[in-house]
Amino acid sequence: MGLVIDTYLNAILFLDSHWEILISCDSKMSPRRNGRVLMTSMLIRDISGKLRSWISEECDRLKVSRQEFLLSLLTKACDVDERLPLFEGAPAQPDRAQQGAGRSLPFSFVDLFAGIGGLRLGLEAVGGRCLFSSEWDRYSQKTYNAWFNEVPKGDITKIEPSEIPDHDVLAAGFPCQPFSIAGVSKKNALGLPHGFKDVTQGNLFFTLAAIIRIKRPAVIMLENVKNLQSHDQGRTWEVIRTTLEEMKYRIFTKVIDAAAWVPQHRERVIIVGFDSFLFGCDPPFNFPKEPEKRCSKFRDILESYPDERYTLSDHLWGYLKEYAQRHKEKGNGFGYGMVDLDGVSRTLSARYFKDGSEILIPQGNKNPRRLTPREAARLMGFPDRLPIVVSDTQAYRQFGNAVVPPVVEAVAKQVVKVLEWHFKTNMGEL
Ligand SMILES: C[S@@+](CC[C@H](N)C(=O)[O-])C[C@H]1O[C@@H](n2cnc3c(N)ncnc32)[C@H](O)[C@@H]1O
Repeated sequence: MGLVIDTYLNAILFLDSHWEILISCDSKMSPRRNGRVLMTSMLIRDISGKLRSWISEECDRLKVSRQEFLLSLLTKACDVDERLPLFEGAPAQPDRAQQGAGRSLPFSFVDLFAGIGGLRLGLEAVGGRCLFSSEWDRYSQKTYNAWFNEVPKGDITKIEPSEIPDHDVLAAGFPCQPFSIAGVSKKNALGLPHGFKDVTQGNLFFTLAAIIRIKRPAVIMLENVKNLQSHDQGRTWEVIRTTLEEMKYRIFTKVIDAAAWVPQHRERVIIVGFDSFLFGCDPPFNFPKEPEKRCSKFRDILESYPDERYTLSDHLWGYLKEYAQRHKEKGNGFGYGMVDLDGVSRTLSARYFKDGSEILIPQGNKNPRRLTPREAARLMGFPDRLPIVVSDTQAYRQFGNAVVPPVVEAVAKQVVKVLEWHFKTNMGEL
């Protein structure tokens, strides 16, 4: 028996030996490449009796022709495949594992507390496909949209976990503020609660934990300020760690200084977790080794002709010098940071727009200058191809809040190694 469906004739032919399905499209509507009409017909042989009955029943039920039914099925399958996580139901097919960027696994991920997508850039660089993003700041959304052609969804606390597509890796740079030294001392000074007692930002970790519990991604990758682990004498970190471990994730953490990848001293804690049900208790994960040779010097990120407006006014420069002198006399080292052009700078903070004092660039006899927004982007490892579409103030804030994409890429490469190990060792189960 065989079935042929043809668009022109819309004829259905039953052949004797086996079923065959031919789907064909009108050649006038066919795509053309190099002047040639691309093949638009498809013949499928050896259709089982079971499948044949199912197709007939579905066509009767939906009152559509066999061609309409099969084309709609294929269209849906094509769309769905783009979004399928590797870990849905069965382990990934080995041939799917060969697709994606370069030779990496085509894993899917979501980008929560996305900022301007520092985590996304690092994950995409190793073959990740982003399925969903959330960021509530409208200026960050503007940058994110310009870079990834996607406006992230807003407040994560208002998003139902069911609205988040299934994914392999959950990436989140959950807000640092309640845990960072600057955030804590400011809140202490204001008599405000901090860490988990902070009813707004602190609780966002629990929002995140609820999403992880419900969506159960195979891997989680979180980033935060270094101080996360020492906040509240380690109690904050203890809650985070045990919450993730109780959900049966094997957790790895490391404070990584981005200075090996970009000319900036920037320490962030990176938390990587693997679902123990999938990877066991001892997945072979290691954080990346620092590149043997430092990737760049501070002078490498400088623009050749920075605008004059980035040079400090006499008033501001005078103020900064006097402020530093006063603090020196009191015995503490607070003050501006003049950069060694052949070394690395201090950490770029989200407050850089205020006076730029933590990273000042010497200009010989002239007053020093601050970084231009493009230099701030480079200092963070964001490539020049990404346009800066917000004001200087917003740009400094966004880069100062971000994670360094080359560091994320290095960590993500190590995660991919574990995914590859997983599929290799489970190949027999496919
Ligand atoms: C530390 S930053 C993340 C930076 C990001 N990793 C990057 O590379 O740009 C935290 C982000 O969480 C966002 N955020 C805070 N609360 C949020 C909420 N309730 N819903 C969505 N985003 C939120 C902030 O606007 C901020 O951009």
